[in-house]
Amino acid sequence: MHAETSTGACQPDIAAVAEVCHRRDALLILDCVTSLGGLPVQVDAWGVDVAYGASQKCLSAPPGLAPITVSPRAEERLRTRRSPVTSFYLDLSLLDKYWSEKPTYHHTASISLAYALREALRLVEEEGLSARFARHQRNAERLWGGLEALGLSLLVPPTHRLPSLSTPVLPAGLDDAGLRRSLLQDFNIEIAGGFGPLAGKVWRIGLMGYSSRAENVITLLGALAELLKTK
Ligand SMILES: Cc1ncc(COP(=O)(O)O)c(C=O)c1O
Repeated sequence: MHAETSTGACQPDIAAVAEVCHRRDALLILDCVTSLGGLPVQVDAWGVDVAYGASQKCLSAPPGLAPITVSPRAEERLRTRRSPVTSFYLDLSLLDKYWSEKPTYHHTASISLAYALREALRLVEEEGLSARFARHQRNAERLWGGLEALGLSLLVPPTHRLPSLSTPVLPAGLDDAGLRRSLLQDFNIEIAGGFGPLAGKVWRIGLMGYSSRAENVITLLGALAELLKTK
Protein backbone atom coordinates (compact mmCIF):
# COMPACT_ATOMS: atom_id res chain seq x y z
CA MET A 1 0.00 0.00 0.00
CA HIS A 2 1.61 3.27 -1.07
CA ALA A 3 -1.01 5.61 0.36
CA GLU A 4 -3.21 4.15 3.07
CA THR A 5 -6.63 5.80 3.02
CA SER A 6 -7.87 4.23 6.25
CA THR A 7 -5.05 5.56 8.42
CA GLY A 8 -3.57 8.49 6.45
CA ALA A 9 -0.14 6.84 6.32
CA CYS A 10 2.23 6.90 3.36
CA GLN A 11 4.81 4.15 2.86
CA PRO A 12 8.00 6.23 2.54
CA ASP A 13 10.41 3.64 1.08
CA ILE A 14 8.83 1.41 -1.55
CA ALA A 15 12.25 0.65 -3.12
CA ALA A 16 13.32 -1.07 0.12
CA VAL A 17 10.14 -3.20 0.11
CA ALA A 18 10.73 -4.11 -3.56
CA GLU A 19 14.30 -5.11 -2.76
CA VAL A 20 13.15 -7.56 -0.06
CA CYS A 21 10.46 -9.00 -2.38
CA HIS A 22 12.89 -9.54 -5.24
CA ARG A 23 15.53 -11.12 -3.00
CA ARG A 24 12.90 -13.78 -2.26
CA ASP A 25 11.76 -14.03 -5.88
CA ALA A 26 8.40 -12.45 -5.03
CA LEU A 27 6.60 -9.75 -7.00
CA LEU A 28 5.61 -6.42 -5.48
CA ILE A 29 2.08 -5.19 -6.21
CA LEU A 30 1.53 -1.59 -5.14
CA ASP A 31 -1.83 0.07 -4.46
CA CYS A 32 -1.45 3.68 -5.63
CA VAL A 33 -5.17 4.51 -5.50
CA THR A 34 -4.74 7.50 -3.17
CA SER A 35 -1.31 8.60 -4.41
CA LEU A 36 -1.45 8.60 -8.22
CA GLY A 37 -1.62 12.25 -9.32
CA GLY A 38 -1.06 13.65 -5.81
CA LEU A 39 2.44 12.51 -4.90
CA PRO A 40 5.34 10.91 -6.78
CA VAL A 41 4.74 7.33 -7.94
CA GLN A 42 7.96 5.98 -9.54
CA VAL A 43 7.19 2.39 -10.35
CA ASP A 44 10.33 1.68 -12.42
CA ALA A 45 12.79 3.51 -10.17
CA TRP A 46 11.33 1.75 -7.12
CA GLY A 47 11.23 -1.71 -8.74
CA VAL A 48 7.45 -2.16 -8.49
CA ASP A 49 6.10 -5.07 -10.54
CA VAL A 50 2.40 -4.24 -10.70
CA ALA A 51 0.94 -0.88 -9.70
CA TYR A 52 -2.65 0.23 -9.98
CA GLY A 53 -4.37 3.51 -9.24
CA ALA A 54 -7.83 4.97 -9.61
CA SER A 55 -9.32 7.66 -11.79
CA GLN A 56 -11.40 9.34 -9.08
CA LYS A 57 -8.95 10.41 -6.39
CA CYS A 58 -5.89 12.61 -7.00
CA LEU A 59 -6.49 12.54 -10.77
CA SER A 60 -10.01 13.93 -10.21
CA ALA A 61 -11.64 12.13 -13.13
CA PRO A 62 -14.95 10.27 -12.71
CA PRO A 63 -14.72 6.90 -10.91
CA GLY A 64 -14.68 3.68 -12.93
CA LEU A 65 -11.16 3.28 -14.32
CA ALA A 66 -8.06 1.85 -12.68
CA PRO A 67 -4.78 2.69 -14.45
CA ILE A 68 -2.46 -0.31 -14.13
CA THR A 69 1.15 -1.04 -15.02
CA VAL A 70 2.87 -4.44 -15.26
CA SER A 71 6.67 -4.87 -15.24
CA PRO A 72 8.52 -7.23 -17.64
CA ARG A 73 9.20 -9.48 -14.60
CA ALA A 74 5.47 -9.69 -13.83
CA GLU A 75 4.62 -10.23 -17.52
CA GLU A 76 7.05 -13.13 -17.63
CA ARG A 77 5.45 -14.61 -14.50
CA LEU A 78 2.02 -14.29 -16.13
CA ARG A 79 3.20 -15.96 -19.32
CA THR A 80 4.79 -18.89 -17.52
CA ARG A 81 2.13 -19.62 -14.89
CA ARG A 82 1.13 -23.27 -14.77
CA SER A 83 -2.43 -22.99 -13.48
CA PRO A 84 -5.14 -21.03 -15.33
CA VAL A 85 -6.41 -17.77 -13.82
CA THR A 86 -9.64 -18.54 -11.99
CA SER A 87 -11.30 -15.11 -12.24
CA PHE A 88 -12.43 -13.56 -15.50
CA TYR A 89 -12.65 -9.98 -14.24
CA LEU A 90 -8.98 -9.60 -13.28
CA ASP A 91 -7.41 -12.07 -15.67
CA LEU A 92 -4.38 -10.02 -16.71
CA SER A 93 -3.47 -12.58 -19.41
CA LEU A 94 -6.82 -11.98 -21.10
CA LEU A 95 -6.51 -8.22 -20.59
CA ASP A 96 -3.04 -8.40 -22.16
CA LYS A 97 -4.60 -9.91 -25.29
CA TYR A 98 -7.42 -7.35 -25.20
CA TRP A 99 -4.85 -4.51 -25.23
CA SER A 100 -2.57 -6.20 -27.79
CA GLU A 101 -2.07 -5.41 -31.47
CA LYS A 102 -4.64 -8.10 -32.26
CA PRO A 103 -7.30 -7.57 -29.59
CA THR A 104 -9.57 -10.37 -28.48
CA TYR A 105 -12.78 -9.60 -26.60
CA HIS A 106 -12.68 -9.17 -22.82
CA HIS A 107 -15.19 -6.42 -22.04
CA THR A 108 -16.79 -3.35 -23.58
CA ALA A 109 -14.67 -0.35 -22.66
CA SER A 110 -16.34 2.79 -21.36
CA ILE A 111 -15.34 5.29 -24.02
CA SER A 112 -16.83 8.25 -22.11
CA LEU A 113 -14.68 7.41 -19.06
CA ALA A 114 -11.58 7.12 -21.25
CA TYR A 115 -12.26 10.61 -22.65
CA ALA A 116 -12.83 11.97 -19.13
CA LEU A 117 -9.56 10.44 -17.90
CA ARG A 118 -7.74 11.90 -20.89
CA GLU A 119 -9.05 15.36 -20.02
CA ALA A 120 -8.05 14.91 -16.35
CA LEU A 121 -4.54 13.87 -17.45
CA ARG A 122 -4.37 16.88 -19.75
CA LEU A 123 -5.07 19.08 -16.73
CA VAL A 124 -2.37 17.26 -14.75
CA GLU A 125 0.09 17.94 -17.53
CA GLU A 126 -0.98 21.57 -17.80
CA GLU A 127 -0.34 22.07 -14.07
CA GLY A 128 2.92 20.08 -14.15
CA LEU A 129 3.67 17.14 -11.90
CA SER A 130 6.02 18.89 -9.49
CA ALA A 131 3.65 21.88 -9.11
CA ARG A 132 0.79 19.46 -8.48
CA PHE A 133 2.70 17.48 -5.86
CA ALA A 134 3.81 20.72 -4.18
CA ARG A 135 0.18 21.94 -4.11
CA HIS A 136 -0.99 18.74 -2.39
CA GLN A 137 1.81 19.03 0.16
CA ARG A 138 1.23 22.77 0.78
CA ASN A 139 -2.51 22.39 1.35
CA ALA A 140 -2.01 19.35 3.57
CA GLU A 141 0.49 21.28 5.70
CA ARG A 142 -1.97 24.19 5.89
CA LEU A 143 -4.64 21.76 7.10
CA TRP A 144 -2.34 20.04 9.63
CA GLY A 145 -1.26 23.39 11.10
CA GLY A 146 -4.87 24.56 11.35
CA LEU A 147 -6.07 21.34 12.98
CA GLU A 148 -3.28 21.50 15.54
CA ALA A 149 -4.17 25.12 16.26
CA LEU A 150 -7.71 23.91 17.01
CA GLY A 151 -6.26 21.43 19.51
CA LEU A 152 -6.53 18.29 17.32
CA SER A 153 -3.44 16.13 17.00
CA LEU A 154 -2.70 13.98 13.95
CA LEU A 155 -2.64 10.19 14.04
CA VAL A 156 0.37 9.79 11.74
CA PRO A 157 3.85 11.19 12.52
CA PRO A 158 5.12 13.76 9.97
CA THR A 159 7.63 11.31 8.36
CA HIS A 160 4.79 8.97 7.26
CA ARG A 161 2.00 11.48 6.70
CA LEU A 162 -0.03 11.34 3.51
CA PRO A 163 -0.82 14.72 1.91
CA SER A 164 -3.99 13.47 0.18
CA LEU A 165 -5.70 12.07 3.30
CA SER A 166 -5.33 13.42 6.83
CA THR A 167 -6.46 11.76 10.04
CA PRO A 168 -6.93 14.11 13.01
CA VAL A 169 -7.52 12.34 16.32
CA LEU A 170 -10.84 13.18 17.97
CA PRO A 171 -10.77 14.46 21.54
CA ALA A 172 -12.50 12.08 23.98
CA GLY A 173 -16.21 12.73 24.35
CA LEU A 174 -16.64 14.51 21.01
CA ASP A 175 -19.88 13.68 19.15
CA ASP A 176 -18.23 12.30 16.00
CA ALA A 177 -21.32 11.60 13.88
CA GLY A 178 -23.20 14.72 15.10
CA LEU A 179 -20.32 17.00 14.28
CA ARG A 180 -19.83 15.54 10.83
CA ARG A 181 -23.59 15.83 10.23
CA SER A 182 -23.50 19.54 11.18
CA LEU A 183 -20.50 20.06 8.90
CA LEU A 184 -22.48 18.62 6.02
CA GLN A 185 -25.83 20.25 6.77
CA ASP A 186 -24.62 23.70 7.83
CA PHE A 187 -21.45 24.09 5.77
CA ASN A 188 -21.89 21.65 2.88
CA ILE A 189 -18.58 19.93 3.73
CA GLU A 190 -18.33 16.16 3.96
CA ILE A 191 -15.50 14.47 5.82
CA ALA A 192 -15.35 10.76 6.60
CA GLY A 193 -15.25 8.90 9.90
CA GLY A 194 -12.65 6.32 10.87
CA PHE A 195 -12.76 2.68 9.73
CA GLY A 196 -12.69 -0.46 11.91
CA PRO A 197 -10.62 0.04 15.07
CA LEU A 198 -10.30 3.75 14.22
CA ALA A 199 -14.09 4.33 14.05
CA GLY A 200 -15.00 7.16 16.41
CA LYS A 201 -11.30 7.85 17.04
CA VAL A 202 -10.23 9.76 13.92
CA TRP A 203 -11.69 11.67 11.00
CA ARG A 204 -10.53 11.15 7.45
CA ILE A 205 -10.16 14.38 5.48
CA GLY A 206 -9.38 14.09 1.79
CA LEU A 207 -7.52 16.76 -0.15
CA MET A 208 -7.23 15.08 -3.52
CA GLY A 209 -6.67 16.54 -6.96
CA TYR A 210 -9.11 19.35 -7.65
CA SER A 211 -10.28 19.39 -4.02
CA SER A 212 -6.76 20.12 -2.70
CA ARG A 213 -7.31 23.88 -2.58
CA ALA A 214 -6.53 26.59 -0.03
CA GLU A 215 -10.13 27.79 0.02
CA ASN A 216 -11.37 24.29 0.92
CA VAL A 217 -8.88 24.05 3.79
CA ILE A 218 -9.74 27.50 5.10
CA THR A 219 -13.51 26.92 4.83
CA LEU A 220 -13.20 23.61 6.68
CA LEU A 221 -11.02 25.06 9.43
CA GLY A 222 -13.44 27.99 9.89
CA ALA A 223 -16.42 25.62 10.10
CA LEU A 224 -14.64 23.33 12.56
CA ALA A 225 -13.65 26.28 14.76
CA GLU A 226 -17.31 27.31 14.86
CA LEU A 227 -18.64 23.80 15.57
CA LEU A 228 -16.02 22.84 18.14
CA LYS A 229 -16.93 25.98 20.12
CA THR A 230 -20.52 24.80 20.50
CA LYS A 231 -19.96 21.04 21.06
C1 LIG B 1 -6.00 2.85 -0.92
C2 LIG B 1 -7.25 2.39 -1.62
N1 LIG B 1 -7.20 1.28 -2.37
C3 LIG B 1 -8.29 0.84 -3.03
C4 LIG B 1 -9.48 1.51 -2.95
C5 LIG B 1 -10.65 0.98 -3.72
O1 LIG B 1 -10.93 1.82 -4.80
P1 LIG B 1 -12.34 1.72 -5.55
O2 LIG B 1 -13.35 2.30 -4.61
O3 LIG B 1 -12.14 2.57 -6.79
O4 LIG B 1 -12.58 0.29 -5.83
C6 LIG B 1 -9.59 2.65 -2.18
C7 LIG B 1 -10.88 3.37 -2.11
O5 LIG B 1 -11.09 4.29 -1.39
C8 LIG B 1 -8.44 3.11 -1.51
O6 LIG B 1 -8.49 4.21 -0.75
